[in-house]
Amino acid sequence: MLICHVVGARPNFMKAAPLIRALAAMDGTRQLLVHTGQHYDANMSDVFFRQLAMPAPDVNLQVGSGTHAQQTAQIMSRFEPVLEEHAPDMVVVYGDVNSTVAATLVCAKLGIRVAHVEAGLRSFDRTMPEEINRLVTDQLADLLFAPSRDGVDNLLREGVAPERIHLVGNIMIDTLKQMLPEAKRRIPQGLPSRYVLVTLHRPSNVDDPEWLVSVLSLLQAVAKDVPVLFPVHPRTRARLQGAKLSTGELQLLDPMPYLEFLGMQTAAAAVITDSGGIQEETTYLGIPCFTLRENTERPITISVGSNVLIGRDLEALRRQLGHALEGRFKSSAVPELWDGSASQRIAELIARDVDSARHSAAVVGAN
Ligand code: UD1
Repeated sequence: MLICHVVGARPNFMKAAPLIRALAAMDGTRQLLVHTGQHYDANMSDVFFRQLAMPAPDVNLQVGSGTHAQQTAQIMSRFEPVLEEHAPDMVVVYGDVNSTVAATLVCAKLGIRVAHVEAGLRSFDRTMPEEINRLVTDQLADLLFAPSRDGVDNLLREGVAPERIHLVGNIMIDTLKQMLPEAKRRIPQGLPSRYVLVTLHRPSNVDDPEWLVSVLSLLQAVAKDVPVLFPVHPRTRARLQGAKLSTGELQLLDPMPYLEFLGMQTAAAAVITDSGGIQEETTYLGIPCFTLRENTERPITISVGSNVLIGRDLEALRRQLGHALEGRFKSSAVPELWDGSASQRIAELIARDVDSARHSAAVVGAN
Protein backbone atom coordinates (compact mmCIF):
# COMPACT_ATOMS: atom_id res chain seq x y z
CA MET A 1 0.00 0.00 0.00
CA LEU A 2 1.10 3.57 -0.66
CA ILE A 3 0.37 6.04 2.14
CA CYS A 4 0.87 9.75 1.51
CA HIS A 5 1.41 12.08 4.50
CA VAL A 6 0.80 15.80 4.18
CA VAL A 7 2.55 18.13 6.62
CA GLY A 8 3.05 21.86 6.40
CA ALA A 9 3.35 23.67 9.69
CA ARG A 10 5.38 23.24 12.86
CA PRO A 11 2.71 21.45 14.94
CA ASN A 12 2.25 18.78 12.21
CA PHE A 13 5.75 17.37 12.36
CA MET A 14 5.68 15.74 15.81
CA LYS A 15 2.34 14.09 14.91
CA ALA A 16 3.54 12.65 11.60
CA ALA A 17 6.94 11.34 12.80
CA PRO A 18 5.71 8.40 14.93
CA LEU A 19 3.08 7.31 12.39
CA ILE A 20 5.62 7.29 9.56
CA ARG A 21 7.81 5.06 11.75
CA ALA A 22 4.95 2.72 12.72
CA LEU A 23 3.87 2.31 9.09
CA ALA A 24 7.47 1.79 7.93
CA ALA A 25 7.67 -1.22 10.26
CA MET A 26 4.76 -2.90 8.43
CA ASP A 27 5.45 -5.20 5.50
CA GLY A 28 4.50 -3.97 2.06
CA THR A 29 4.09 -0.30 2.99
CA ARG A 30 5.44 2.48 0.80
CA GLN A 31 5.17 6.08 1.95
CA LEU A 32 5.24 9.47 0.28
CA LEU A 33 5.92 12.52 2.44
CA VAL A 34 4.60 15.83 1.10
CA HIS A 35 5.60 19.12 2.76
CA THR A 36 3.39 21.99 1.63
CA GLY A 37 5.97 24.62 2.61
CA GLN A 38 3.44 26.52 4.77
CA HIS A 39 6.28 26.87 7.29
CA TYR A 40 9.63 27.32 5.60
CA ASP A 41 12.12 28.95 7.99
CA ALA A 42 14.80 26.51 9.11
CA ASN A 43 13.84 26.97 12.77
CA MET A 44 10.13 26.38 12.01
CA SER A 45 10.64 23.28 9.86
CA ASP A 46 14.08 21.75 9.04
CA VAL A 47 15.22 21.50 12.64
CA PHE A 48 12.07 19.51 13.50
CA PHE A 49 12.70 17.04 10.70
CA ARG A 50 16.26 16.54 11.98
CA GLN A 51 15.40 16.19 15.66
CA LEU A 52 12.42 13.91 15.00
CA ALA A 53 14.52 11.77 12.62
CA MET A 54 11.93 12.19 9.88
CA PRO A 55 12.76 11.28 6.29
CA ALA A 56 13.27 14.32 4.04
CA PRO A 57 10.05 15.24 2.22
CA ASP A 58 9.69 13.51 -1.16
CA VAL A 59 7.86 16.56 -2.46
CA ASN A 60 7.89 20.17 -1.25
CA LEU A 61 5.06 22.28 -2.63
CA GLN A 62 6.84 25.49 -1.48
CA VAL A 63 3.69 27.52 -1.03
CA GLY A 64 5.08 29.88 1.63
CA SER A 65 3.00 32.54 3.39
CA GLY A 66 -0.04 34.40 2.11
CA THR A 67 -3.66 35.10 2.93
CA HIS A 68 -5.73 32.08 3.94
CA ALA A 69 -7.32 31.89 0.49
CA GLN A 70 -3.97 32.23 -1.29
CA GLN A 71 -2.26 29.64 0.89
CA THR A 72 -5.13 27.14 0.68
CA ALA A 73 -5.55 27.58 -3.07
CA GLN A 74 -1.82 27.24 -3.77
CA ILE A 75 -1.61 24.03 -1.75
CA MET A 76 -4.62 22.63 -3.59
CA SER A 77 -3.39 23.40 -7.08
CA ARG A 78 0.14 22.15 -6.37
CA PHE A 79 -0.98 19.01 -4.51
CA GLU A 80 -3.44 17.78 -7.16
CA PRO A 81 -0.78 16.73 -9.73
CA VAL A 82 1.19 14.95 -6.98
CA LEU A 83 -1.85 12.80 -6.24
CA GLU A 84 -2.51 12.18 -9.91
CA GLU A 85 1.09 11.04 -10.39
CA HIS A 86 1.34 8.78 -7.33
CA ALA A 87 -2.27 7.62 -6.75
CA PRO A 88 -1.85 6.74 -3.07
CA ASP A 89 -4.22 4.34 -1.31
CA MET A 90 -4.67 6.81 1.52
CA VAL A 91 -3.64 10.37 2.40
CA VAL A 92 -3.01 11.19 6.06
CA VAL A 93 -3.53 14.78 7.24
CA TYR A 94 -2.72 16.16 10.69
CA GLY A 95 -4.21 18.73 13.05
CA ASP A 96 -5.98 21.88 11.92
CA VAL A 97 -3.67 24.05 9.84
CA ASN A 98 -4.38 25.37 6.35
CA SER A 99 -2.34 22.51 4.84
CA THR A 100 -4.70 20.02 6.52
CA VAL A 101 -7.91 21.33 4.99
CA ALA A 102 -6.37 22.11 1.59
CA ALA A 103 -5.02 18.58 1.13
CA THR A 104 -8.30 17.05 2.31
CA LEU A 105 -10.35 19.02 -0.22
CA VAL A 106 -8.15 17.86 -3.09
CA CYS A 107 -8.44 14.22 -2.03
CA ALA A 108 -12.21 14.42 -1.62
CA LYS A 109 -12.59 15.70 -5.20
CA LEU A 110 -10.28 13.00 -6.58
CA GLY A 111 -11.96 10.23 -4.59
CA ILE A 112 -8.80 9.38 -2.61
CA ARG A 113 -9.35 8.20 0.93
CA VAL A 114 -8.26 10.56 3.72
CA ALA A 115 -7.36 9.84 7.34
CA HIS A 116 -7.43 12.76 9.78
CA VAL A 117 -5.16 12.49 12.79
CA GLU A 118 -6.45 14.67 15.67
CA ALA A 119 -10.08 14.63 14.56
CA GLY A 120 -13.12 15.93 16.41
CA LEU A 121 -11.56 18.74 18.43
CA ARG A 122 -13.83 21.79 18.59
CA SER A 123 -13.44 25.25 20.12
CA PHE A 124 -16.95 26.18 18.88
CA ASP A 125 -15.41 29.48 17.82
CA ARG A 126 -15.65 30.02 14.09
CA THR A 127 -13.58 33.19 14.24
CA MET A 128 -10.57 30.86 14.61
CA PRO A 129 -9.23 29.79 11.22
CA GLU A 130 -8.33 26.41 12.74
CA GLU A 131 -11.98 25.74 13.69
CA ILE A 132 -13.03 26.15 10.06
CA ASN A 133 -10.19 23.83 9.03
CA ARG A 134 -11.28 21.21 11.59
CA LEU A 135 -14.97 21.31 10.62
CA VAL A 136 -14.34 20.95 6.90
CA THR A 137 -11.62 18.31 7.26
CA ASP A 138 -13.76 16.12 9.53
CA GLN A 139 -16.77 16.30 7.22
CA LEU A 140 -14.69 15.08 4.30
CA ALA A 141 -12.23 12.61 5.83
CA ASP A 142 -12.95 8.86 5.69
CA LEU A 143 -11.09 7.85 8.84
CA LEU A 144 -11.26 10.08 11.89
CA PHE A 145 -8.70 9.49 14.64
CA ALA A 146 -9.78 11.28 17.82
CA PRO A 147 -7.30 11.97 20.63
CA SER A 148 -9.97 12.08 23.36
CA ARG A 149 -13.61 11.16 23.99
CA ASP A 150 -14.85 14.74 23.60
CA GLY A 151 -13.63 14.51 20.00
CA VAL A 152 -15.72 11.39 19.41
CA ASP A 153 -18.78 13.05 20.95
CA ASN A 154 -18.39 16.16 18.77
CA LEU A 155 -18.18 14.07 15.61
CA LEU A 156 -21.22 11.97 16.50
CA ARG A 157 -23.18 15.15 17.25
CA GLU A 158 -22.26 16.45 13.79
CA GLY A 159 -23.69 13.32 12.21
CA VAL A 160 -20.44 11.57 11.30
CA ALA A 161 -20.99 7.83 10.84
CA PRO A 162 -19.70 5.98 13.95
CA GLU A 163 -17.72 3.47 11.87
CA ARG A 164 -15.53 6.30 10.56
CA ILE A 165 -14.54 7.40 14.09
CA HIS A 166 -11.75 5.81 16.14
CA LEU A 167 -10.66 6.86 19.61
CA VAL A 168 -6.91 6.29 19.42
CA GLY A 169 -5.38 8.70 21.94
CA ASN A 170 -2.93 11.53 21.44
CA ILE A 171 -0.17 10.87 18.92
CA MET A 172 1.85 13.90 20.02
CA ILE A 173 2.41 12.12 23.30
CA ASP A 174 4.08 9.24 21.41
CA THR A 175 6.77 11.69 20.31
CA LEU A 176 6.93 13.40 23.68
CA LYS A 177 7.43 10.12 25.58
CA GLN A 178 10.08 8.94 23.21
CA MET A 179 12.01 12.23 23.23
CA LEU A 180 11.66 13.18 26.89
CA PRO A 181 15.00 11.78 28.16
CA GLU A 182 16.91 13.53 25.35
CA ALA A 183 14.87 16.74 25.85
CA LYS A 184 15.90 16.84 29.52
CA ARG A 185 19.54 16.53 28.48
CA ARG A 186 19.06 19.41 26.02
CA ILE A 187 17.69 22.01 28.44
CA PRO A 188 19.68 25.06 27.31
CA GLN A 189 22.60 26.02 29.59
CA GLY A 190 22.39 29.15 31.70
CA LEU A 191 18.61 29.28 32.21
CA PRO A 192 17.40 30.79 35.48
CA SER A 193 16.62 28.12 38.09
CA ARG A 194 12.96 29.19 38.11
CA TYR A 195 11.08 30.81 35.25
CA VAL A 196 7.77 31.24 33.50
CA LEU A 197 7.72 30.16 29.86
CA VAL A 198 5.53 32.09 27.40
CA THR A 199 4.44 31.47 23.79
CA LEU A 200 1.87 33.58 21.93
CA HIS A 201 1.08 33.52 18.23
CA ARG A 202 -2.71 33.41 17.72
CA PRO A 203 -4.13 36.27 15.67
CA SER A 204 -6.58 36.93 18.56
CA ASN A 205 -3.63 37.75 20.83
CA VAL A 206 -0.98 39.24 18.59
CA ASP A 207 -2.89 40.98 15.79
CA ASP A 208 -4.74 43.42 18.08
CA PRO A 209 -2.11 45.98 19.18
CA GLU A 210 -4.11 47.30 22.15
CA TRP A 211 -4.60 43.83 23.59
CA LEU A 212 -1.00 42.88 22.88
CA VAL A 213 0.17 45.94 24.86
CA SER A 214 -1.97 44.84 27.85
CA VAL A 215 -0.58 41.32 27.69
CA LEU A 216 3.00 42.58 27.44
CA SER A 217 2.57 44.88 30.44
CA LEU A 218 1.15 42.00 32.49
CA LEU A 219 4.11 39.82 31.50
CA GLN A 220 6.53 42.60 32.38
CA ALA A 221 4.94 42.90 35.81
CA VAL A 222 5.37 39.13 36.27
CA ALA A 223 9.00 39.43 35.15
CA LYS A 224 9.72 41.68 38.14
CA ASP A 225 9.18 38.63 40.40
CA VAL A 226 10.25 35.70 38.24
CA PRO A 227 12.14 35.57 34.92
CA VAL A 228 9.87 35.31 31.86
CA LEU A 229 11.31 33.43 28.87
CA PHE A 230 9.46 34.06 25.61
CA PRO A 231 10.43 32.24 22.39
CA VAL A 232 8.84 34.45 19.74
CA HIS A 233 6.93 33.07 16.72
CA PRO A 234 7.63 34.97 13.43
CA ARG A 235 4.06 36.32 13.31
CA THR A 236 4.47 37.72 16.84
CA ARG A 237 7.92 39.14 16.12
CA ALA A 238 6.52 40.99 13.12
CA ARG A 239 3.75 42.49 15.28
CA LEU A 240 6.16 43.51 18.05
CA GLN A 241 8.51 45.16 15.57
CA GLY A 242 5.71 46.70 13.51
CA ALA A 243 4.15 48.44 16.52
CA LYS A 244 7.56 49.10 18.18
CA LEU A 245 6.22 47.63 21.41
CA SER A 246 8.36 47.61 24.53
CA THR A 247 9.25 44.20 25.88
CA GLY A 248 11.45 45.55 28.72
CA GLU A 249 12.41 42.78 31.07
CA LEU A 250 11.09 39.85 29.05
CA GLN A 251 13.76 37.47 27.75
CA LEU A 252 12.83 37.20 24.08
CA LEU A 253 14.25 34.14 22.28
CA ASP A 254 14.10 32.83 18.73
CA PRO A 255 11.60 30.01 18.02
CA MET A 256 13.00 26.92 19.76
CA PRO A 257 13.70 23.50 18.29
CA TYR A 258 11.45 20.68 19.55
CA LEU A 259 13.85 19.09 22.03
CA GLU A 260 15.07 22.31 23.63
CA PHE A 261 11.52 23.64 23.97
CA LEU A 262 10.24 20.40 25.47
CA GLY A 263 13.17 20.45 27.90
CA MET A 264 12.33 24.03 28.85
CA GLN A 265 8.70 23.05 29.51
CA THR A 266 9.76 20.28 31.89
CA ALA A 267 11.80 22.76 33.96
CA ALA A 268 9.30 25.67 33.90
CA ALA A 269 7.49 26.81 37.05
CA ALA A 270 4.50 27.60 34.83
CA VAL A 271 3.63 28.14 31.17
CA ILE A 272 1.49 30.86 29.60
CA THR A 273 0.44 30.06 26.03
CA ASP A 274 -2.17 30.25 23.31
CA SER A 275 -0.88 27.13 21.52
CA GLY A 276 -2.98 23.97 21.29
CA GLY A 277 -0.12 21.49 21.48
CA ILE A 278 1.47 23.13 24.51
CA GLN A 279 -1.78 22.76 26.47
CA GLU A 280 -1.42 19.02 25.83
CA GLU A 281 2.30 18.76 26.53
CA THR A 282 2.02 20.59 29.87
CA THR A 283 -0.91 18.33 30.79
CA TYR A 284 1.23 15.26 30.17
CA LEU A 285 4.11 16.80 32.15
CA GLY A 286 1.85 18.08 34.97
CA ILE A 287 3.17 21.66 34.60
CA PRO A 288 0.70 24.49 35.42
CA CYS A 289 -0.48 25.96 32.12
CA PHE A 290 -2.46 29.18 31.67
CA THR A 291 -4.11 29.45 28.29
CA LEU A 292 -4.62 32.97 27.07
CA ARG A 293 -7.72 32.25 25.01
CA GLU A 294 -11.47 32.42 25.53
CA ASN A 295 -11.99 28.79 24.55
CA THR A 296 -10.05 25.65 23.86
CA GLU A 297 -10.64 22.77 21.47
CA ARG A 298 -8.82 20.63 24.04
CA PRO A 299 -11.18 20.72 27.06
CA ILE A 300 -9.71 17.54 28.49
CA THR A 301 -6.55 19.48 29.35
CA ILE A 302 -8.76 21.50 31.72
CA SER A 303 -11.09 18.82 33.09
CA VAL A 304 -8.32 16.24 33.60
CA GLY A 305 -5.02 18.00 32.94
CA SER A 306 -3.07 20.95 34.30
CA ASN A 307 -4.50 23.63 32.02
CA VAL A 308 -6.51 26.69 33.09
CA LEU A 309 -8.43 28.85 30.63
CA ILE A 310 -7.79 32.52 31.34
CA GLY A 311 -9.96 34.18 28.70
CA ARG A 312 -9.22 37.90 28.63
CA ASP A 313 -9.02 38.37 32.38
CA LEU A 314 -5.40 39.37 32.90
CA GLU A 315 -5.99 40.07 36.61
CA ALA A 316 -7.11 36.44 37.01
CA LEU A 317 -3.97 35.35 35.23
CA ARG A 318 -1.79 37.36 37.60
CA ARG A 319 -3.60 36.00 40.65
CA GLN A 320 -3.68 32.36 39.56
CA LEU A 321 -0.11 32.41 38.33
CA GLY A 322 0.91 33.81 41.73
CA HIS A 323 -0.82 30.87 43.43
CA ALA A 324 0.84 28.37 41.11
CA LEU A 325 4.27 29.90 41.79
CA GLU A 326 3.59 29.45 45.52
CA GLY A 327 2.85 25.78 44.86
CA ARG A 328 -0.93 26.11 45.11
CA PHE A 329 -2.37 24.51 41.99
CA LYS A 330 -5.08 21.98 41.14
CA SER A 331 -4.12 18.33 40.94
CA SER A 332 -4.09 16.85 37.45
CA ALA A 333 -3.71 13.56 35.58
CA VAL A 334 -2.82 12.22 32.14
CA PRO A 335 -5.92 11.59 29.97
CA GLU A 336 -6.78 8.04 28.87
CA LEU A 337 -4.85 6.67 25.89
CA TRP A 338 -2.20 9.38 26.02
CA ASP A 339 0.15 6.46 26.46
CA GLY A 340 2.71 6.59 23.65
CA SER A 341 1.00 3.95 21.47
CA ALA A 342 -1.46 6.04 19.43
CA SER A 343 0.69 5.75 16.29
CA GLN A 344 0.62 1.96 16.51
CA ARG A 345 -3.17 1.94 16.82
CA ILE A 346 -3.53 4.35 13.89
CA ALA A 347 -1.14 2.38 11.66
CA GLU A 348 -3.12 -0.83 12.22
CA LEU A 349 -6.44 0.89 11.48
CA ILE A 350 -5.05 2.43 8.29
CA ALA A 351 -3.68 -0.92 7.09
CA ARG A 352 -7.02 -2.61 7.78
CA ASP A 353 -8.93 0.15 5.96
CA VAL A 354 -6.70 0.02 2.89
CA ASP A 355 -7.02 -3.76 2.81
CA SER A 356 -10.78 -3.68 2.97
CA ALA A 357 -11.04 -0.87 0.36
CA ARG A 358 -8.89 -2.99 -2.00
CA HIS A 359 -10.98 -6.05 -1.26
CA SER A 360 -14.22 -4.16 -2.02
CA ALA A 361 -12.70 -2.81 -5.25
CA ALA A 362 -11.69 -6.35 -6.27
CA VAL A 363 -15.20 -7.68 -5.54
CA VAL A 364 -16.78 -4.87 -7.58
CA GLY A 365 -14.28 -5.56 -10.39
CA ALA A 366 -15.12 -9.28 -10.38
CA ASN A 367 -18.82 -8.58 -10.70
C1 UD1 B 1 -0.07 28.34 11.66
C2 UD1 B 1 -1.43 27.65 11.87
C3 UD1 B 1 -1.72 27.60 13.38
C4 UD1 B 1 -0.59 26.95 14.13
C5 UD1 B 1 0.70 27.68 13.81
C6 UD1 B 1 1.89 27.08 14.50
C7 UD1 B 1 -3.11 27.99 10.14
C8 UD1 B 1 -4.37 28.68 9.82
N1 UD1 B 1 -2.50 28.41 11.26
O1 UD1 B 1 -0.18 29.66 12.13
O2 UD1 B 1 -2.90 26.83 13.58
O3 UD1 B 1 -0.85 27.03 15.52
O4 UD1 B 1 0.91 27.64 12.39
O5 UD1 B 1 3.04 27.84 14.29
O6 UD1 B 1 -2.70 27.12 9.42
N2 UD1 B 1 6.27 32.92 8.96
C9 UD1 B 1 7.64 32.98 8.86
N3 UD1 B 1 8.31 31.81 8.68
C10 UD1 B 1 7.70 30.61 8.58
C11 UD1 B 1 6.31 30.55 8.67
C12 UD1 B 1 5.61 31.72 8.88
O7 UD1 B 1 8.24 34.05 8.94
O8 UD1 B 1 8.39 29.58 8.40
C13 UD1 B 1 5.53 34.18 9.20
C14 UD1 B 1 4.99 34.82 7.95
O9 UD1 B 1 5.08 36.19 8.10
C15 UD1 B 1 3.54 34.40 7.95
C16 UD1 B 1 3.23 34.35 9.44
O10 UD1 B 1 4.44 33.89 10.05
O11 UD1 B 1 2.76 35.30 7.25
C17 UD1 B 1 2.11 33.41 9.78
O12 UD1 B 1 2.36 32.09 9.24
P1 UD1 B 1 1.13 31.13 8.85
O13 UD1 B 1 1.63 29.82 8.43
O14 UD1 B 1 0.20 31.88 7.94
O15 UD1 B 1 0.34 31.01 10.20
P2 UD1 B 1 0.86 30.76 11.68
O16 UD1 B 1 0.57 31.99 12.47
O17 UD1 B 1 2.25 30.22 11.73
